[in-house]
Amino acid sequence: MTTRVLTGITTSGTPHLGNYAGAIRPAIQASQQPGVDAFFFLADYHALIKTTEDPARVARSRLEIAATWLAAGLDPERVTFYRQSDIPEIPELCWLLTCVTPKGLMNRAHAYKASVDQNTAKGVDPDDGISMGLFSYPVLMAADILLFNAHKVPVGRDQIQHLEMARDIAQRFNHIYGDDYFVLPEVVIAEEVATLPGLDGRKMSKSYNNTIPLFEGGTAALRAAVMRIVTDSRQPGEPKDAENSHLYTLYRAFASAGQSADFRKALEQGMGWGDAKQALCELLEGSVADMRERYVELMSRPERIEDILMAGADKARKLAAPFVARLRHAVGLRRLEASKPAAAAKGAKKALARGPRFVSFRDETGSFRFRLLATDGDELLCSVAYADPKDAGAVMRRLQSEPVALEALSDAKGAAYVAVVDGAQVAYGPPNAGPDAQQAAMARTRDALNMLLDAARDPAA
Ligand code: TRP
Repeated sequence: MTTRVLTGITTSGTPHLGNYAGAIRPAIQASQQPGVDAFFFLADYHALIKTTEDPARVARSRLEIAATWLAAGLDPERVTFYRQSDIPEIPELCWLLTCVTPKGLMNRAHAYKASVDQNTAKGVDPDDGISMGLFSYPVLMAADILLFNAHKVPVGRDQIQHLEMARDIAQRFNHIYGDDYFVLPEVVIAEEVATLPGLDGRKMSKSYNNTIPLFEGGTAALRAAVMRIVTDSRQPGEPKDAENSHLYTLYRAFASAGQSADFRKALEQGMGWGDAKQALCELLEGSVADMRERYVELMSRPERIEDILMAGADKARKLAAPFVARLRHAVGLRRLEASKPAAAAKGAKKALARGPRFVSFRDETGSFRFRLLATDGDELLCSVAYADPKDAGAVMRRLQSEPVALEALSDAKGAAYVAVVDGAQVAYGPPNAGPDAQQAAMARTRDALNMLLDAARDPAA
């Protein structure tokens, strides 16, 4: 079984060394493990929650963070890499989740409470300057995670509560609508890197203004930041306390075990802080120089990054669209013919007998196929030909028992869309009659599949 690992980075700043060592590097390493299906995205909707956010900065940050991931070795073929705001199913799911989220749960969110406390301390209205975006932040984050049924979510410690809320919201939805729609995600905390120290020894963070830039400003800026690292006043020749020096912690985050041991020994034997900073500079430069070159190259061609992200959004939406269609059906946002009063009155079994259905048949060449027919008998899908009836039956059962992807096709002469199972095109829609007809027929087909799915899960419904 593959494990789906998903994480997002809010696009509100320029990546620094702490973001790289604490989030980007471990995430890319995890994505290279066998059995891992990684989803990494730019949380650009989350970047909008503060009205103080500057649009130009959000725009710039999206580009910088995307380029950073790619320069750091993210392989967009292997990983699903996208922008949150390119997936309309995320805000759509966010609303469905908002409607099952108790307000009281959000009142308890640390970030919201901290803002309220600050306001109270200042003696202003408790909700002063707090947008609904900030208040509902955890629901949007739950939508990010639950839409893709992520198993594991690597984040910093400050996000643990958000993951607990995502689980809570998922459980409520599953309970209310009576099925295991959502996987309950697990938080993953990378203990040893989560707290890369900044120049002053506190956690490296934009808000403390103690960061070391990753690429921005090149070697000179990297060097200048390292020279500003705060150390104690011990002179060259005096033994240093490596274990309690954040300079050593920074060094260790980029060095091999052997290098770290040598560096530590040198400090304990009296290496001066100036020399230590010099060594740290060289080590960091050695770790980032190649990436920085790729970064500069990527930044010079934003249109290529745009293409990569749009291809990633396509890949993500292939999963998201059928899933949200199923969720819409679950909450009652269904095609109207699925809820005719007469059908309800005469009982579910009967209604279904007149509902959409699969039929198997042999075609003129003797091959085995099946069709999906709408309530009125219109053909919604016709399968490819199978030599073995068992194969045709197996695929038909997959379509009846799990949400499948429908993909629009663009050939004007061919079919309007195709159903895809495990990457294979298994059944085609009717001929393409233009974009509007195509969208309508796809929506009808999704609804028909969802009705059958629900009937299979809950025969009494
Ligand atoms: N809130 C996260 C942070 O600030 C970013 C984020 C948004 C995220 N959506 C997510 C992380 C979903 C993991 C999964 O770090």
